[in-house]
Amino acid sequence: MASASFVKLNAASSSWMGQKSSLGKRSPGSSTRRVSFSTRASSYTDELVQTAKSIASPGRGILAIDESNATCGKRLASISLDNTETNRQAYRQLLLTTPGLGEYISGAIFFEETLYQSTTDGKKFVDCLRDENIVPGIKVDKGLVPLPGSNNESWCQGLDGLASRSAEYYKQGARFAKWRTVVSIPCGPSDLAIKEAAWGLARYAAISQDNGLVPIVEPEILLDGDHPIDRTLEVAEKVWAEVFYYLAENNVVFEGILLKPSMVTPGAEHKEKASPDTVAKYTLKMLKRRVPPAVPGIMFLSGGQSEAEATLNLNAMNQSPNPWHVSFSYARALQNTVLKTWQGHPENVEAAQKSLLVRAKANSLAQLGRYSAEGESEEAKKGMFVKGYTY
Ligand code: 13P
Repeated sequence: MASASFVKLNAASSSWMGQKSSLGKRSPGSSTRRVSFSTRASSYTDELVQTAKSIASPGRGILAIDESNATCGKRLASISLDNTETNRQAYRQLLLTTPGLGEYISGAIFFEETLYQSTTDGKKFVDCLRDENIVPGIKVDKGLVPLPGSNNESWCQGLDGLASRSAEYYKQGARFAKWRTVVSIPCGPSDLAIKEAAWGLARYAAISQDNGLVPIVEPEILLDGDHPIDRTLEVAEKVWAEVFYYLAENNVVFEGILLKPSMVTPGAEHKEKASPDTVAKYTLKMLKRRVPPAVPGIMFLSGGQSEAEATLNLNAMNQSPNPWHVSFSYARALQNTVLKTWQGHPENVEAAQKSLLVRAKANSLAQLGRYSAEGESEEAKKGMFVKGYTY
């Protein structure tokens, strides 16, 4: 892979969001060659910046419901439902027609099937979102496969045909995208796996921006392992350094991306659990060392934490101002109680929607640093960690 070089000799100076860069101007009488910083401007740049800003708006975060059909099947099996398109549609309809959801949720990530689905009354799911001022998003990666030459690690597929798929998703109403790759601490991680993860994310991000979709950049550092929190910090710093290196090399506009990191915690099998204050201290330290303030939003994944734990940790991170919007993009930590309440029965839909609002509001308060765990149910305190979780 090419080495880092953000300075291009003899390159034409570029404009970004309509402003001509003055960085490359030659001083009078100077004999040195012209040096320019080149950042490619996509025709969508202004829109990307606006989309990212609206997703990263105060007191709101992302509802991730982009489980692949196989993973959605596992969720449905947990309440004894078959993995049919009708059941997947019914579950997503319950979530997406929750009245008032837009007060706490700014974006929702779909799996491809959901992007093209409608309610049983014929209203497109993307229109349900628009009515609540929620931005529709789409998972665009094609999943993980073994990475030959590594330590039993994986890489993420999906770059082939991504540009045309993204253009189609944009036409269908999607305005942001998600690509989840993973890094395993117990498996190394090897330099090869980290480089591959970072390069794939950067290529995906550039292609998404070129097609009008704000890329969510998600190198998930899995909770698997018995390592202490310092080891997670070390790996996370390495991973994010590499990710930003390649994002810059691919001329990705940082103002038009969102990040989806894992929180910095000890491994799930470590003997001690970390308090929310410790998780917040380590996670913010890592982010401040690695993430430029140009990035508008950090939208955490929950990764198998319990609903209450994910909310408490987010709340701890918002006790003082951060350079970026620090919020949530949870799947399991927003959906667990909803699914248990629903059980596939139409008469439970209203109660299940209420439980979604409870979780969404709790995380909205945590985004504002005003959440208290008082009155949380026992269900909300149950961890959801599964070894080698796929999406
Ligand atoms: P979890 O919050 O369940 O870890 O979801 C991660 C994810 O990538 C969803 O889009």
